[in-house]
Amino acid sequence: MAYYIKHSFLLISTLMILRLQFSSAIKGGYWYSDSGLAASDINPSYFTHLFSAFADLDTTTYQVTISPANAARFSTFTQTVQAKSSSVKTLLSIGGGGGSTLAQKFANMASQASRRKSFIDSSIRLARNNNFHGLDLDWEYPSSDTDKTNFGSLIKEWRAAVAAESRSSGKPALLLSAAVGGSDQITPLKYYPGPDIANNLDWINVMTYDLFTSDGYPTVTQAPAPLKNPTGQFSADEGITKWIGLGVPKSKIALGLPFYGFKWALSDPNNHRIFSKATQGLGAVKYKDIKNAGAQIVYNSTYTTTYAFKGTDWYGYDDTQSTANKVSYAKQNGLFGYFAWHIEQDSNWALSDAASRSWGA
Ligand SMILES: *[C@@H]1O[C@H](CO)[C@@H](O)[C@H](O)[C@H]1NC(C)=O
Repeated sequence: MAYYIKHSFLLISTLMILRLQFSSAIKGGYWYSDSGLAASDINPSYFTHLFSAFADLDTTTYQVTISPANAARFSTFTQTVQAKSSSVKTLLSIGGGGGSTLAQKFANMASQASRRKSFIDSSIRLARNNNFHGLDLDWEYPSSDTDKTNFGSLIKEWRAAVAAESRSSGKPALLLSAAVGGSDQITPLKYYPGPDIANNLDWINVMTYDLFTSDGYPTVTQAPAPLKNPTGQFSADEGITKWIGLGVPKSKIALGLPFYGFKWALSDPNNHRIFSKATQGLGAVKYKDIKNAGAQIVYNSTYTTTYAFKGTDWYGYDDTQSTANKVSYAKQNGLFGYFAWHIEQDSNWALSDAASRSWGA
């Protein structure tokens, strides 16, 4: 009995110590190096994790590489942000929204064990040589049953390699995350191996945005990233619910927040609700540029979204109120946290601040 008690105590203490090594939540932000935001201009105090985007996939060697343009700024990124906020963790993000050509490169890499090994070993080397705390896979998107199987093999082997490297280096294991589809509206989520993700990744960044863009719906204004959608099938909540259904625990799911919106030209400036007629779609616009447009702002609680209009200019986006309310949803539903794409588009850290406050300490 004493033996049992002593050993349960040891086990519990060990579990508590292990638990302390992991953050209990994520307040994430992607730093897109091509955006022009210098790492030294980031205020890291709003974030627990920053993602350095993007490293590339070499299609000849299947190694992960950092472009010459990014080499210097990536290698100093961690020390630059940690100088201001010593607890912030950094991850090197690989891939990105490169469309079907880039998706095919990932599919080719993941299709053979030797290629996966090249990818995995080079990614770990790059992370360590550049002082990142982790790696983030942005394969957008696996799109077949074969891709699903290979995605599963990739992250299983990645987890094993990261654990082995930690044992041999004596350093804490690198974090492993992935940015994944946010809704069936974007990509069929059934092509992700949920249980493999649950077992091998620390968490996923669910990209719950771009659901109704002005490119996709040029003739009618939309809430591009609604939290709830009473009139339609797709929303952030729908995507998160599907991910839980795929077998990924809530505690490994981060909700995606867009720091940008989409612009439409209204047919009639007096008809400016969501689902008003438009003459054309005018593409993506950064939050800071929408804020500076001087348009009249309306919060819509049905969709948890914001829109703004001025003359025939119409913007569907998230401001501080809809962002804070999305974060409350994440917290109330027991998710791991949230992440933003991407932080340069914020306006004096207003959205980052609103999100961080809404989550709390
Ligand atoms: C949100 O917008 C929709 C579509 O225009 C509208 O039907 C709904 O009443 C609005 N919700 C609120 C709370 O105003």
